[in-house]
Amino acid sequence: MSPKGFILLVDDNPTNLSVLSEALSSEGLNFRVAIDGESAIAQAERNQPELILLDVQMPGINGFETCRRLKANPLTTNIPVIFTTALADTDSKTKGFFLGAVDYIPKPFAQEEVLARVRVHLRLKQLTESLEQQVRDRTAALQQTQVQLVQQEKLSALGELIAGIAHEMNNPISFITSNLPPLDEYIAAVCEMLELYAQEYPEPTPTITDAIEALDVDFVLEDMPKILNSLKLGAERIQNLSNSLRTFCRSDSDNKAPGNLHQGLDSTLMILQHRLKNNGDRSSIEVIRNYGNLPEVNCFLGQMNQVFMNLIANAIDAIDEAIAAGKISSVVPQITITTTTDAHNMAVISIADNGCGIPASAQQRLFEPLFTTKPVGKGTGLGLSIAHQIVVEKHNGKLEVNSQPGMGTEFKIAIPISS
Ligand SMILES: Nc1ncnc2c1ncn2[C@@H]1O[C@H](COP(=O)(O)OP(=O)(O)O)[C@@H](O)[C@H]1O
Ligand SMILES: [Mg+2]
Repeated sequence: MSPKGFILLVDDNPTNLSVLSEALSSEGLNFRVAIDGESAIAQAERNQPELILLDVQMPGINGFETCRRLKANPLTTNIPVIFTTALADTDSKTKGFFLGAVDYIPKPFAQEEVLARVRVHLRLKQLTESLEQQVRDRTAALQQTQVQLVQQEKLSALGELIAGIAHEMNNPISFITSNLPPLDEYIAAVCEMLELYAQEYPEPTPTITDAIEALDVDFVLEDMPKILNSLKLGAERIQNLSNSLRTFCRSDSDNKAPGNLHQGLDSTLMILQHRLKNNGDRSSIEVIRNYGNLPEVNCFLGQMNQVFMNLIANAIDAIDEAIAAGKISSVVPQITITTTTDAHNMAVISIADNGCGIPASAQQRLFEPLFTTKPVGKGTGLGLSIAHQIVVEKHNGKLEVNSQPGMGTEFKIAIPISS
């Protein structure tokens, strides 16, 4: 019984009460007494006892009625009731059990029997409570897992879709990129032709002279290569994006495979580029890549990309929050990504920002699913818990956080290079 727990003795007979209280005291068990049904109910509502020993024959409402009322009240329904009575006939016993009693102790009391039954029922109550707690805990854990599964399922469906689109983009992009060089050549050749014409026929007819003027040929000739260049740049950029999308959404097979983490980081940064850019409230975020000499790492690269995405997106959010709070207006917003290997043959990736930082109270809870400090619609609270699961459970790695509130945050991932 917990230190605050007590047993409620209900009996109108002082002799019975003193026998019972002596028995319980001798075992060091706390108890309180009530001398009728009404006051027993009132006491039990105020402070729930662990167990009630209830006399049947009492003035006022009898024990059966008291039990019925206790069981009907949600506050007291779970308290085990043991009847104590001289009524030993089968009908009374059955009625007692029917009303929800857990046991029956006949009078006159045998001290050993009273104690034995009390002990059994206290233990049963404890076991029931601990089982209920376990069920609650497990249910909560299951719910969290379910949320993560649904989220991962969504991500993987989305990933397939994007990888599909990125793949489909390939053909049209290659029409453009493969046709640009010949177009370039043709245009150069046509320009040469025009120059040659001008050389050979320095005095064109008035119609030609008018047309040359209307077209502003000099400007067109000058502008054409610039247009071609910007077409090339645009096509290149689409191609990079499409490659990054495909690398990023790479679907992992069931087994780990050697992967290039730098490529993963680069494709993630490419996809997040729109968020890194100057957004009106701040200048663009400077990304510093301190890439070390990383070998290929045996991993699920698609999942690791998910980790990079979650951590870098959080870093951008943290910088935006610091800017909104007016904290780092004087410094350049920065994200520093450092990769290296350590003495335990682990690949270590650090992602550091100079954003708002994390207060100590929140640091404890970061990796809990659904823990977020962001407004509804912005944060889901799943990013870090998914990242943690991927790094720690899927890759036997470590994910650590280091943060100075107001200064910035560093997340450090370490995963085995070969596993
Ligand atoms: N780089 C960071 N700087 C400051 N706070 C962070 C950083 N990364 C995570 N956090 C904090 O951890 C919380 C949980 O992050 P996460 O699990 O990704 O969920 P969400 O981003 O949806 O809120 C965030 O709401 C934020 O308070
Ligand atoms: Mg997040």
